[in-house]
Amino acid sequence: MCGIVGYIGDKNAVPILMDGLKKLEYRGYDSAGVAIYDDNKILVRKYKGRLSILEEHLNEEKLSGNLAIGHTRWATHGEPSDENSHPHTNEKGDIAVVHNGIIENYQKIRKFLIDKGYVFKSEVDTEVLAHFVDYYYEGDLAEAVRKVLREIKGSYAFAVISSREPDKMVCVRKENPLVVGIGEGENYIASDIPAILKHTRNIYLMDENEVAVITKDDIKFFAENGEPVTKEVFNVTWDVASAEKGGYEHFMIKEIHEQPKAVKDTMLSRIDADSDTIKLDDIKITKEDLEKFRKIYIVACGTAYHAGLVGKYMIENLAKIPVEVDIASEFRYRNALVDENTLVIIISQSGETLDTLAALKEAKAKGARILSVVNVVGSSIARESHDVLYTWAGPEISVASTKAYTTQLIALYEIALYMADLRGTLSKEEIKTIKDEMMILPEKIEKTLENKEAIQRFAAKYSGVKDVFFLGRGLDSPVAMEGSLKLKELSYIHSDAYAAGELKHGPIALIEKGTIVIAIMAQQGLYEKMLNNVKEVKSRGAYVFAIAKEGHKEVEEISDQVLFIPEVSDLLAPVVAIIPLQLLAYYMAVEKGCDVDKPRNLAKSVTVE
Ligand code: F6R
Repeated sequence: MCGIVGYIGDKNAVPILMDGLKKLEYRGYDSAGVAIYDDNKILVRKYKGRLSILEEHLNEEKLSGNLAIGHTRWATHGEPSDENSHPHTNEKGDIAVVHNGIIENYQKIRKFLIDKGYVFKSEVDTEVLAHFVDYYYEGDLAEAVRKVLREIKGSYAFAVISSREPDKMVCVRKENPLVVGIGEGENYIASDIPAILKHTRNIYLMDENEVAVITKDDIKFFAENGEPVTKEVFNVTWDVASAEKGGYEHFMIKEIHEQPKAVKDTMLSRIDADSDTIKLDDIKITKEDLEKFRKIYIVACGTAYHAGLVGKYMIENLAKIPVEVDIASEFRYRNALVDENTLVIIISQSGETLDTLAALKEAKAKGARILSVVNVVGSSIARESHDVLYTWAGPEISVASTKAYTTQLIALYEIALYMADLRGTLSKEEIKTIKDEMMILPEKIEKTLENKEAIQRFAAKYSGVKDVFFLGRGLDSPVAMEGSLKLKELSYIHSDAYAAGELKHGPIALIEKGTIVIAIMAQQGLYEKMLNNVKEVKSRGAYVFAIAKEGHKEVEEISDQVLFIPEVSDLLAPVVAIIPLQLLAYYMAVEKGCDVDKPRNLAKSVTVE
């Protein structure tokens, strides 16, 4: 997830770009850069770090130009550095590209271009685009871009300018956002509307695989096959603040809705239905390494710890290696039995959580191999680890984690399948069955999100409650824990999660008339047992809101309310079953007027002990 902005017209593009990039900083903030056309050449300025660093340099140099593209980066390939920042150029520096997304087959193209004599300056996938446009250029920039499109795979939005044709910008969009802003004698492009809203409210929303050729007086769109496309102008009526959140009221609800894409991105190039292996290029753990590990520890905090609990189940069941899950702040002080025959999997969205980082260092000092699952590229945890598997959730702004959690689950499934494949504990067919189902998870999440109104109604009625209990068995148990954490941190309602079988060992004493119980019933194998647990609490007066899979009608008879999620295997159910619980926490907090994106006493990245 990165931010793109571009301008063509008679004004100085630099302040317009800087202003636009500031509005896009939420899409990425590890480096930023601009390419400005002036005096028959393209000038590129790009720096690692916050946008203010780029701004200081541009202010000092007083650069200007009437055509420019800019970028704010959230690293995916290649860690944050000046070199890896965008824009990227060809060798002559007369073609510049900014890009958001992933070029999946960039390594193959890079090799092809190197064989043709092209010299690369960075490690990032985007650089292939600049050289590839150069390779295909025969006097028509748009045609060269079209030829590139025929070769590249992945999801992307990118913009190209060239001093060979300085009267235009050429842009493309596939599975990543890009809008074109209509001005008078000037035009704009941006990843998101807020970046250009100050200048125009008349927008073209680019469709999948469309190419736009933009001059200062004209905007033309073409389909993939080169056919011209006529588009309708979209008039933006939102204010700037809500536009930043994509029209949503809060970042949290926007991020909840981004999960189908985040999950898809985290599988891209790793889980491929056409291949019979799991490709985790980033991980160097071999079959021999795996034979050596006598035990795996998963270490994390909060929501990431809950993802770890699901990961334990996955790795033990699929790859048959014993796993222990530890809270990082406990692991540090319990002298865990870690040595060079141990693999420690560290999970962290920010990659900066102090307790998790300290646990990592402790384990590393004892000789353990460290594999981390991290969202922020180049973060401290990523740098300290032997192997890193990135979740491609993009920046998570809301303090409460949502899309980072579901992508952590995906990364853990990938690790478990990778290990099962290396160890031969699953057959190729079994792996394929799981992979095929994983690939339709984004649709299932999407479908679950459609039920949000039922949850909204529940929240409107019950946001005044004092206590809520979450129950689940098997893989529904960590889901219950995560649902309970979300509810308490956002709405300040006291909540607890229990493995439903534990009820009779104490907690059932708390159930009385009107107590709210959220029963997660997404595990087919434990469904009957959960029905009994629901009956137990119902007979003591609880109000039961059940989350069950489509077709499980019996639950309707014994619960007060049921929310059905799409059919999904027990193994993958946590990715779908958590969605209603995220929505529940969100709407309860909204009903209570809480500060949803910044709950009291909490910080996004906990860098203190
Ligand atoms: C809860 C939440 C926290 C984090 C925890 C670890 O919604 O976001 O519990 O999961 O602070 O943070 P990271 O993953 O950045 O190490």
